[in-house]
Amino acid sequence: MSGKLASDYAAWKKLQALYDSEHSKINLRELFASDPQRFEKYHRQWASPDDPSASLLVDFSKNLINEPIFKTLLELAEEADVAGAREKLFSGEHINTSEDRAVLHIALRNFNPQWKINEPGVDEVKPVLDHIRTFTDSVRNGTWKGYTGKPITTIVNIGIGGSDLGPVMVTEALKHYAKRDLTPYFVSNIDGTHLVETLRNCNPETTLFIIASKTFTTQETITNAESARTWFLNAAKDKAHVAKHFVALSTNTKAVTGFGIDEANMFQFWDWVGGRYSLWSAIGLSIALVIGYENFEQLLKGGHAMDKHFRSAPLHENIPVLLALVGIWYNDFYGAQTHALLPYDQYLSKFADYFQQGDMESNGKFITKQGKRVDYQTGPIIWGAAGTNGQHSFYQLVHQGTKLIPADFIAPATTLNPIENSKHHRILLSNFFAQPEALAFGKTEEEVRKELGPNSTESLVKSKVFEGNRPSNSIMFPVMTPHLLGSLIALYEHKIFVQGTIWGINSYDQMGVELGKVLAKNILAQLAKPEDVKGHDSSTTGLIHYYQKVRKE
Ligand code: F6P
Repeated sequence: MSGKLASDYAAWKKLQALYDSEHSKINLRELFASDPQRFEKYHRQWASPDDPSASLLVDFSKNLINEPIFKTLLELAEEADVAGAREKLFSGEHINTSEDRAVLHIALRNFNPQWKINEPGVDEVKPVLDHIRTFTDSVRNGTWKGYTGKPITTIVNIGIGGSDLGPVMVTEALKHYAKRDLTPYFVSNIDGTHLVETLRNCNPETTLFIIASKTFTTQETITNAESARTWFLNAAKDKAHVAKHFVALSTNTKAVTGFGIDEANMFQFWDWVGGRYSLWSAIGLSIALVIGYENFEQLLKGGHAMDKHFRSAPLHENIPVLLALVGIWYNDFYGAQTHALLPYDQYLSKFADYFQQGDMESNGKFITKQGKRVDYQTGPIIWGAAGTNGQHSFYQLVHQGTKLIPADFIAPATTLNPIENSKHHRILLSNFFAQPEALAFGKTEEEVRKELGPNSTESLVKSKVFEGNRPSNSIMFPVMTPHLLGSLIALYEHKIFVQGTIWGINSYDQMGVELGKVLAKNILAQLAKPEDVKGHDSSTTGLIHYYQKVRKE
């Protein structure tokens, strides 16, 4: 971006004019009725070149776009030089400008010898993967023994944010491929309850703790890790046993060894791996332990396959670009505040949680890379839940509320659990097909009247009308596999990149999480006595005083 705000682009102004002149006329019923080719035009299919069984159908036809809008959105991507920015990403330029870092999660899954990236650490990716493989194999086959000679049956990943959410999401998504006699737990919250309730399920003799922290300074993680070590040593007694039960995933060797973890049991990664993009790195160790190294590598390969598509496909065929542009249309012109991720797949029940950090920590910024305040909306609020649970919870508002909530519906064609001859899955998918249809086409007053007959009240008629015209994308794939999941995650990562590029923001720092941390540190030192509480507003002071008065410790 050349120092311009997105709103300076000619295409942006054109989109604004199109919105002003057309949005009240755009009607999905009419768009579909007038163009039998609409689905043909506005869907894309993609298959991994490395595993054609991993493929995606992305239908974006149920969006409030027509040909001029679609064309202008693509012009916006051209004008913002998304293609140029993409090359900078892949070639390792320091596009994380505020921290002067490259952004190279793509290097962690780069199986293409042609893609050379000149950045310290990139050559070490392979040796770290080899370390993950040997370690994973030894734990899974029982040759890695605990301090009493028993094999490991439980792993506890202690990390937070990007050092937690990726492994949590992926181990759940790929549970079908998991080794069932190795139980994973994830402790993230500083709330002691999280650790205590987890440790209730653990036996120190057979538990492996994975301390996952890029910086190895994160207060929550280090405090939890120290408490886990105390719990462990209460049973094991001898500090020498820590080596068999604690490993670390980090960029910070000094802090890891300072904690007492053997450097040989440390899995390295590098400052060019952003926390929320780190599941592909050593942070994925818990994933590899649960699903096996071969499956972990398939996850990486699936990510790489999507990288190839993103790097080479022209913008109008490029799935991450298309989803990004459609998102911008609602976010910046319709004023939509949120974007829902609605997987019709229980295995993807943590997908929205994962991309809540992925998207919101990346694109929740009001300052451009050049330090200008944007005069438009940037990242949306990401939320969602697995279907059909959401239907019995928040869909009422999505269908008939006063807010526009663009949504992605995601589903596998084939279930991995075909109970009752796949009856459950057919019911699930009937809902997956029905919801976007209901959102888009609704139910008119005329239809409601006909249905209710002459004796119904006016208010009942009105309350049963679905206005429709509510947009969504539908994403389908054949079946959940590690390769497919890798591609799906990379698709959303690149969508975030494209949006950040157009908005002109740095999607790879997270300055906004700092202030609260500093204030908490200051407050922690003041919690002992009421007279220590200084320098706050009356509300914060009042709250701390209340706590000091009623606490029982
Ligand atoms: O929330 C801020 C953050 O820095 C995230 O970006 C990161 O994923 C998380 O904290 C954990 O950081 P670390 O891996 O260094 O413990």
